[in-house]
Amino acid sequence: MKFGYFDDENQEYVITRPDTPLPWINYLGCQAYFGIISNTAGGYSFYRDARLRRVTRYRYNNVPHDFGGRYIYLRDNESGEFWSPSWQPTRHDLENYTCRHGMGYTVIGSRYQGITAHTNYFVPLDENLEIWQLTVTNQRSERATLSIFSSLEFCLWDAQDDATNFQRNFSIGQVEIEDGVIYHKAEYRERRDHFAYFACSDKVEAFDTQRDALVGPYRSWEKPLAIECGRLTDSVAHGWAPIGAHQVDVKLAPGESRQIIFVLGYHENPRDQKFDPPDSQIINKRTLKPVIAKYRDAAKVDAAFQNLRQYWKDVLGILQVDTPDVHTNRMVNIWNAYQCMATFNMSRSASFYESGIGRGLGFRDSNQDLLGFVHMVPARARERILDLAATQLPTGGAYHQYQPLTKRGNNDVGSNFNDDPHWLIVGVAAYLKETGDVSILDEPVPYDNQPGSEQPLFEHLQRSFQYTLDRLGPHGLPLIGRADWNDCLNLNCFSDTPGQSFQTTTNKEGKVAESVFIAGLFVLAGRELADIAERRGLAEEAESYRAKAAKMESTIHEHGWDREWFLRAYDDFGRKVGSRECNEGKIFIETQGFCVLAGVGLEDGRAAKSLESVSKHLATEHGIILQQPAYSRYYLELGEISSYPPGYKENAGIFCHNNPWVMIAETRLGNGDRAHDYYSRINPSARESISELHRCEPYVYAQMIAGRDAPTHGEAKNSWLTGTAAWNYYAVTQWILGIRTSYEGLQISPVIPKNWAGFKATRLFRGATYHITIERAGEGNHIALEVDGVPIQGDIVPPPEKGRKEVVVKGTLR
Ligand code: GLC
Ligand code: GLC
Repeated sequence: MKFGYFDDENQEYVITRPDTPLPWINYLGCQAYFGIISNTAGGYSFYRDARLRRVTRYRYNNVPHDFGGRYIYLRDNESGEFWSPSWQPTRHDLENYTCRHGMGYTVIGSRYQGITAHTNYFVPLDENLEIWQLTVTNQRSERATLSIFSSLEFCLWDAQDDATNFQRNFSIGQVEIEDGVIYHKAEYRERRDHFAYFACSDKVEAFDTQRDALVGPYRSWEKPLAIECGRLTDSVAHGWAPIGAHQVDVKLAPGESRQIIFVLGYHENPRDQKFDPPDSQIINKRTLKPVIAKYRDAAKVDAAFQNLRQYWKDVLGILQVDTPDVHTNRMVNIWNAYQCMATFNMSRSASFYESGIGRGLGFRDSNQDLLGFVHMVPARARERILDLAATQLPTGGAYHQYQPLTKRGNNDVGSNFNDDPHWLIVGVAAYLKETGDVSILDEPVPYDNQPGSEQPLFEHLQRSFQYTLDRLGPHGLPLIGRADWNDCLNLNCFSDTPGQSFQTTTNKEGKVAESVFIAGLFVLAGRELADIAERRGLAEEAESYRAKAAKMESTIHEHGWDREWFLRAYDDFGRKVGSRECNEGKIFIETQGFCVLAGVGLEDGRAAKSLESVSKHLATEHGIILQQPAYSRYYLELGEISSYPPGYKENAGIFCHNNPWVMIAETRLGNGDRAHDYYSRINPSARESISELHRCEPYVYAQMIAGRDAPTHGEAKNSWLTGTAAWNYYAVTQWILGIRTSYEGLQISPVIPKNWAGFKATRLFRGATYHITIERAGEGNHIALEVDGVPIQGDIVPPPEKGRKEVVVKGTLR
């Protein structure tokens, strides 16, 4: 069953009934000001940091889950009836409800009693504000007399404190109202230099800024008292819960339309210019007023919207493909790329599954996110790499996460996740191959943000690599530390205290438990680092990195192979994890995918064996399960992985993040059919028709799909912010379609299904557009390339001579 459809032409997903199985959301903003918006207008906004600069309030664990948002009410002043065109909060029986989630905007609208109303919510480029552009049309045969109400609840900035510290917060809310603009200025009188504002393009008949005045005692947003009465109360918030609500009255002739624009924004003033006049306590609005004036003008709003559309057209235009599979096309061309932007911006901070108060930007996550983002805005990727590297510790290790506002590593989760440093090498390599910008390697970057500790980025990479060499275990495999990629494989934790964090509790010295996964990652990182060193003319270093990677590879063969698959780890007792000798958790996906992806076992048949085992033991119709058999009880020596009920999350869930590792691994063995089949099993668009089972959005990946052992096998959770976005994008574009960035040029090496006649693609790469046509002339993966009509050797298209902007590539597969 579906709840909408893809409008690929407009790059939108159109939801046609409001009661989706879960809130289906979108992101507004892609630079500094962001919002989350559900299909019924629920959600919240923030500036840069979802915790520390929350603009609007969101109540956690609410019912419904997305409740609280950017709600508009319409009131028919003749009948006294009022409703919300976005369905929530009043939940009237609307006609023609639609929610169009597009690239950086969402339009929600409907018809009720002959009145249609649509609101386009978006954040203009380069602005710290959002627009709600409402169009109301009277489709009745007689005149309509309506009141239109906007509403939102301000957050007192720190979302965590806002949700808990009532004894203080109920006394600090302050607002100003001037020309119908509502300014929220809690704490501005003391240390903050920022405030929020909420403006309206029309004559404001009345307003409210105190929540209780609008809603009324013992009522909810479903039925606000003042709206029921048809008149806001002009309340001025002193403490309690500051809100913004405007009332605009309109009379519409039959067929007449009106546009009303609401502008919600965030503004900062220089510390010495906070007040106007300077010795007053009144907000200085000089630099803001022109901004508000601009967006009260519908023509300017339309222009800003067109700019946003053009921006996304350009960004998505960098890679467009035309394959025989509609799901591949729409994910690659639209939604997967779009999701990569969201994960780059948000990391794992703010979604309906990530509260925005819990997690900063993850070191490992953000580096991996680059794989799917770097081609879109390389300059931002560069900045992110330098920020990440600056949080690296002098040991080469890394804080597990950092706060976006301060760009400092935080100790909430600490460090010693022993895979972390290698992802920096992976991220930098992706950047270099995309851009060719080797200058980044010479950028001076501090350790732990300490001034004076700056070293070239390249040295950071060297320390990342060395970090593992300094931490080898009894078998010569990397010690795991708190965990590796799998945050829940906590082999040094041994926690028996309820509520203790599995990630930060360490009861063992950590000198025994080893990770075969990190070993595979080390092999990959070592080879990437060798390639980079070579480009710096460091032939000897390159040789030594290759040698160390090769040595690790043989260690994996010696101590990390379990007859039919790669072992997962050794625990603190030196016992095997992920072995046929185990009772539960005999085989894990991570090492099968990653070792083969890194090239381990390609020559001796082990890679093929390992992937056969994946297909036999882990693959399901809904995706590949993380491990089997699921842990049926809690294992003190394994940690959080066994804390989840069987089939969920890391305990034998389908953890979509690592499915693409297997896809890439399959392409390395030349199995295009299997790679694309795995791809399709978790492709959200391909799962659209089972939306009532899948439940999450059909246009973006979820972190997890419940595994075979779960009672809800096939049900997705934790959509949007997951490494699944970048890895799937990378797997399908660079390995299955095989349009791969490399130091020497654009490599074209598809490993596609046998029954595909071919495909077409355009790729903007280092300033030139490659028009690629692939045709199948045989069943294999051997490619013969013609560039501008001339056959070339090998599969790498060299950069065109200077000044040439178009390159025509024809590939024949045999
Ligand atoms: C979450 C984390 C990621 C981790 C994964 C597996 O997605 O964000 O860092 O690798 O879980 O545990
Ligand atoms: C939990 C989750 C895991 C996530 C981690 C983040 O362990 O299961 O997926 O990576 O929390 O701290």
